[in-house]
Amino acid sequence: MKILLLGYGVVGSGVYELIQQNKLRFKEEYEHDVEIVGILVSKLEKYNQLPHSHLFSNDFDRLSQYAYDVAIETIGGIEPAFTYVSQILSKGKPVITSNKDLIAEKGGVLHAIAAEKGVQLSYEASVGGGIPVLKPLRECLGGDQINEIMGIINGTTNFILTKMNQEGLSYEIALKQAQEQGFAEADPTSDVEGFDAVRKISILTKLGMKVDLDWKTIPVQGITHILASDVHYFNATDNVVKLMGISKVYPEGIYTVVRPIILEKHSKFASINNEFNAISVTGDAVGELFFSGKGAGKNPTATAVIGDLVDLLQNKKYKVNRHLSKGKLITLYPDKANW
Ligand code: HSE
Repeated sequence: MKILLLGYGVVGSGVYELIQQNKLRFKEEYEHDVEIVGILVSKLEKYNQLPHSHLFSNDFDRLSQYAYDVAIETIGGIEPAFTYVSQILSKGKPVITSNKDLIAEKGGVLHAIAAEKGVQLSYEASVGGGIPVLKPLRECLGGDQINEIMGIINGTTNFILTKMNQEGLSYEIALKQAQEQGFAEADPTSDVEGFDAVRKISILTKLGMKVDLDWKTIPVQGITHILASDVHYFNATDNVVKLMGISKVYPEGIYTVVRPIILEKHSKFASINNEFNAISVTGDAVGELFFSGKGAGKNPTATAVIGDLVDLLQNKKYKVNRHLSKGKLITLYPDKANW
């Protein structure tokens, strides 16, 4: 199995390392020689000291001439990722991506190309980092009616709010610490304004409830206006604040939102701290399931990418998002939320 790796940032380098570490296991368990044949980056000079520097190129057209079986996209953002991924799928090659912006925005178009060409588009790493949640929704729960998904689905804001909840820090100082520790980007807008979480809840809603919501129409409120004094008050009343994504099915429509939620200190989501994520999924038949773990970071996210690769090594094929309904968003607050 020859792999083209697009992007070599936090996730891409993690994927490279995990593949190197697991080669023998892939061979023994799945009878495949797994090999990375090329790595696309924009700044070649950053990598010329690495022992595998010969794999790097900044020329997509050249790399796409190589013989390869699957591409792994970890560039992030919409462009150029969309151009590359759509070209690769159009050539009949499967793609694994960790890119939630791409899936939330262009998932429909990419799925259509993948279906037409009969190849797989996989993106477990796009939601919840290392937490396997998309596969359970798609496969294990494929026979159930999912009526509620809610969770802490952004590690950066959870880190910031944990600092505010536990140490009484201001938003600005907590954000600075998140940046120093490598969680928040230099431009943290997408995380702190809730856009990252809203893209993720749209993906979860699509896979879980089979409802196709344009992520841009989902109401979103981030954490930038939360004051240290607000958090102090919540603490004094035995509460904490968390940024949550919620999707809940009602007879009249679907309530989907990303917003800060005040939780009792001893409730299950309140104990999910730092960069950890947690997602609860409730189905008619199965009842409530609770997934938690590291929702961001190099190795957890790379693990999810490798999980998708293992599906390909086993020649597993699955169909997704073939019968989506257009959701009617409602603004009713969840009446019996089970935090
Ligand atoms: N910026 C994201 C987060 C990374 O903080 O959760 C993982 O999707």
